[in-house]
Amino acid sequence: MFRRNRGAEAARSAEALRLDGVTKVYGSAENAVIALDGVSLSLPAGTFTAVMGPSGSGKSTLLQCAAGLDRPDSGIVTVDGEEVTGAGEAGLAKFRRRRIGFIFQQYNLLPTLTVEQNTTLPLKLAGRRIDRGRTREVLTHVGLGDRLGHRPDELSGGQQQRVAIARALVTEPSVIFADEPTGALDTRSARSVLGLLQESVRFHGRTVVMVTHDPVAASYADSVLFLADGRLAGEMNAPTVDAVAERLAHLGDDVRVGA
Ligand SMILES: Nc1ncnc2c1ncn2[C@@H]1O[C@H](COP(=O)(O)OP(=O)(O)O)[C@@H](O)[C@H]1O
Ligand SMILES: [Mg+2]
Repeated sequence: MFRRNRGAEAARSAEALRLDGVTKVYGSAENAVIALDGVSLSLPAGTFTAVMGPSGSGKSTLLQCAAGLDRPDSGIVTVDGEEVTGAGEAGLAKFRRRRIGFIFQQYNLLPTLTVEQNTTLPLKLAGRRIDRGRTREVLTHVGLGDRLGHRPDELSGGQQQRVAIARALVTEPSVIFADEPTGALDTRSARSVLGLLQESVRFHGRTVVMVTHDPVAASYADSVLFLADGRLAGEMNAPTVDAVAERLAHLGDDVRVGA
């Protein structure tokens, strides 16, 4: 469908993320909430997937469990062929640093660190070598080559989110998860962030999973997974803005019909 470089082509057949019967329950007894109810999915490496669904449908929980930031109550999560679930705390932290990039709606940059220091923090935490030339290359790529010494509060929201993208890219993770990465941005900044995510998939072979409520954002992805009440409620390949909006409008209907 897209032109890819040879590395991306080779990686395409591999499975970047797999969930088997993942269930997550918050609370207990009478106030238990089933946030994820037996979700199974498989995403090939080198793909851009959007996750959509009503508020409270389990999108963030899905990302947190898939990224090893939270633990499912049952089921198996596999990243790049390696089982995430079952690892101990230390193993999990190490795994996240090596294999996972995470982009949050509110950027989550450290205010006292410069753009360059924020970007290289995951490498530092993982005890990996910091290649300043490579860091600068990544920051130039996201349009911040002239902001290396700035602090986050000297940047716009869009620029801060591009630092977060650089921070996610610099470790060359197996999967980048983004939870509403454009939720706090104006239209123009949102477009630039989405363009960067799309580019990282198409030209650099990364795998991106992005939660969004915005059909325009979802249209940048290769496919959309719809969630409702903690369950997968449909999938759409080559999503267009109109087709996504239409599906979202009827998502509740689908679930009722399917129930
Ligand atoms: N830490 C938590 N404690 C209790 N309930 C939670 C917690 N996190 C999420 N939930 C509940 O789990 C369900 C799914 O939440 P979430 O994954 O945040 O949905 P979404 O991101 O789609 O809005 C919701 O009913 C929410 O209230
Ligand atoms: Mg959420």
